[in-house]
Amino acid sequence: MYELCPETPADTPEVEALLDLCFAPGRTALSSYRLRDGVAPVLPLCLMLRDDFGALMGAIRYWPVRVGASPVLLLGPVAVHPTAQGEGLGGLLMRESLSRATAMGWQRVMLVGDLPYYRRFGFWKLEGVEMPPPTNPDRVLGIELVPGAWSGITGAVERETGDPRPADRRTPGCIQVAPPDHHSA
Ligand SMILES: CC(C)(COP(=O)(O)OP(=O)(O)OC[C@H]1O[C@@H](n2cnc3c(N)ncnc32)[C@H](O)[C@@H]1OP(=O)(O)O)[C@@H](O)C(=O)NCCC(=O)NCCS
Repeated sequence: MYELCPETPADTPEVEALLDLCFAPGRTALSSYRLRDGVAPVLPLCLMLRDDFGALMGAIRYWPVRVGASPVLLLGPVAVHPTAQGEGLGGLLMRESLSRATAMGWQRVMLVGDLPYYRRFGFWKLEGVEMPPPTNPDRVLGIELVPGAWSGITGAVERETGDPRPADRRTPGCIQVAPPDHHSA
């Protein structure tokens, strides 16, 4: 079994170490990190997966951003320990966090990533939504949690400086999850 829990400040060094392991050096130089600087993450959606021994095997994080006047969730980073990649844990983190985001009342999510991976969750290439440079526009992807939520929303993605969050409706805390069936991932 795995335990899936929201990240707490005490977990942060371990999550950072997992991200350092999974991403190329210099990951914090990516433009998406400029949108996160000095902004609190959406903690109920920052989820971690631990195995039976308590080892951290995967993590996903979200930050609030803004496109024009519209609040948007910026998904990422998401990472799975190299020894457990391809077993469905990334899919589990994606689906559980998107379901919790919907339950919280968020309407739309974006990320910068590989369409061949993220399209299985319903992401598509966003047109006219501009990440800070340098970002390949083909990697700017979005999903609607509410039908039509991306309609007519274009412009520069900006740091969220206010508090746009949907009312913090209660989301589940920690849950036990069975190892996913890889082919349902
Ligand atoms: C990307 C990542 C989070 C996926 O997690 P995972 O647990 O390995 O993924 P899952 O087991 O849910 O899904 C595996 C499937 O995704 C595919 N996949 C994984 N990364 C992919 C990518 N970048 N592009 C296309 N397909 C990809 C695998 O080939 C596999 O396909 P299959 O189901 O047809 O066999 C993980 O591989 C990882 O941590 N990679 C390094 C960090 C990273 O690139 N993060 C994403 C950018 S924010």
